[in-house]
Amino acid sequence: MNRSEFEKTVYENKFRVLLSQADIQDRIGELGKAISEDYRDKQPIFIGVLNGGFIFMADLIRRVEIDLEIDFIRISSYGDQKKSSGKIRLEKDINAEIKDRHVIIVEDIIDTGLSIQFLRERFQSYGPASLAVVTLLYKKEKVRNEINIDYVGFTIPDHFVVGYGLDHKQILRNLPAVYVLE
Ligand code: PRP
Repeated sequence: MNRSEFEKTVYENKFRVLLSQADIQDRIGELGKAISEDYRDKQPIFIGVLNGGFIFMADLIRRVEIDLEIDFIRISSYGDQKKSSGKIRLEKDINAEIKDRHVIIVEDIIDTGLSIQFLRERFQSYGPASLAVVTLLYKKEKVRNEINIDYVGFTIPDHFVVGYGLDHKQILRNLPAVYVLE
């Protein structure tokens, strides 16, 4: 199947837009403003969660108007599957020292909540000055244990979504909008 055929299948038959590029960018502007106000004079460190979170991270930090630092961590729980394996694997750790720092974890999506629980516990153990979470998408109804998320872009229903960093069998991350499987 070539790319253009696949796109046709994806866009016309199987996937529909859930959040347009404009919806996403407008909301990121609001999140950036809120974070800029909350962290004035704190020089927070944003930790992006790879792979999916890299696009949101890149767009979000450009809408934050205070000094900040960045780092990345890579974990995996889904592999090429649509369903979480339930086991989190650490594939790349952060390099930054986060003790006594103001840390903001940047996720593309919170689905079952297992990844964010894993990351929170891991980062908390280093003794940060504060630890917050920003996610673009939040499947609030699905998370198993109730969790407090500091900044949420959009609360979405429990459907399979792709685009804007989120993959289907490792492709479609480069779509500028978020699509939902029909
Ligand atoms: C996705 C996403 C989150 C996690 C959320 O990562 O980027 O990190 O799943 O799911 P959870 O709340 O059920 O734990 P994935 O493991 O698919 O890796 P990827 O970002 O490399 O696609």
